[in-house]
Amino acid sequence: MAVQVLDSRKRPLRDIRISVTDKCNFRCQYCMPAEIFGPDYPFLPQHKLLTFEEIARLARIFTSLGVSKIRITGGEPLMRRDLPALIRMLRQVDGVQDIAMTTNGSLLAKHAEALKAAGLDRVTVSLDSLDDERFGKINGRGYKVADVLAGIEAAAQAGLGVKINMVVQREVNVDDILPMARYFREQGHILRFIEFMDVGNTNGWRLDQVVPSREIVEMIHEEMPLEPIDPNYYGEVASRYRYAGSEEEIGLISSVTQAFCSTCTRARLSAEGKMYNCLFASSGFDLREPLREGSDDAQIRELISGYWEQRQDRYSEERLLHTPGLTRDKVEMSHIGG
Ligand code: GTP
Ligand code: 5AD
Ligand code: SF4
Ligand code: SF4
Repeated sequence: MAVQVLDSRKRPLRDIRISVTDKCNFRCQYCMPAEIFGPDYPFLPQHKLLTFEEIARLARIFTSLGVSKIRITGGEPLMRRDLPALIRMLRQVDGVQDIAMTTNGSLLAKHAEALKAAGLDRVTVSLDSLDDERFGKINGRGYKVADVLAGIEAAAQAGLGVKINMVVQREVNVDDILPMARYFREQGHILRFIEFMDVGNTNGWRLDQVVPSREIVEMIHEEMPLEPIDPNYYGEVASRYRYAGSEEEIGLISSVTQAFCSTCTRARLSAEGKMYNCLFASSGFDLREPLREGSDDAQIRELISGYWEQRQDRYSEERLLHTPGLTRDKVEMSHIGG
């Protein structure tokens, strides 16, 4: 029977976001700018990555502490070879109710069936524009919109749940908001608009590039009336809206203008086995060494619960108090997958 572990602000540990690689085939400016993540960038060598067996073992320990939701991230998780094998192992862990994956979608058409067969429940595909020229610039590698749409289609065909994430930046893709809303309403997929965040140390974040969710809702509402709906679960990151008189919905993720730290139940595990208590943490807590140095499950469980219990993080709330931004050393997004 799982116990519930609470942090110093009484927030339970419920979700774990597991990064399986720090590599990505895209170079989105807001996450892995090409000037920094160039050909000589020191990505993690294979021996530093947790093996699938190590990840599954940690997942078992995390579920014994109340975690029931697992999200696989990267970098781009499909850059890790044989990912369905990991999904199959995680599916067998007692207490895991939901396994999702965040992906850029470019490799999804090839892998959707195998992922579903292995037990993946759903995917969240990042897509910031339906315009090829703009999208090619955003992803920094000239990938085509059609590649991602094919991935989305294949995922839906395979029976995976599908959501779409769009990061909105004022000077980049405001003109894409309405075309994206129309298109994904028609397709019946939930589109979530994400306020551009100051993740990592290199993404050139500026407050004036953030489009507040309120503005996005107003823009869409004018053309297609919206009504707010209740969250699906405690601590849901997105605020939900339905197109009036229909079943189709959108989500708004407002980490900048409406911080949601008070209900944040998420821990993150980097590909090299460090546990992070916040997306904006400066440092993580190494679990790979105890795993490899022979600690037993009970000892590792103690380390994890101890690290969560002393957690005080609430970066987005603090940012609200200190806008235009906090200067501190932060982990890179591609390292812990958002
Ligand atoms: P669902 O399980 O479908 O509700 O997914 P989710 O919204 O929790 O996860 P997803 O990976 O789709 O994240 C959507 C966006 O919200 C991404 O930009 C994440 O970086 C951001 N996000 C997720 N969790 C947090 C968080 O704890 N803090 C902050 N600041 N942003 C988060
Ligand atoms: N601000 C907001 N969202 C971001 N993502 C990546 N970088 C940022 C950022 N700076 C999104 C990705 C993906 C999710 C995990 O996080 O587009 O959908
Ligand atoms: Fe890759 Fe996603 Fe980061 Fe873009 S946001 S560089 S697709 S990990
Ligand atoms: Fe959680 Fe940190 Fe995001 Fe706040 S900023 S919601 S504490 S991950």
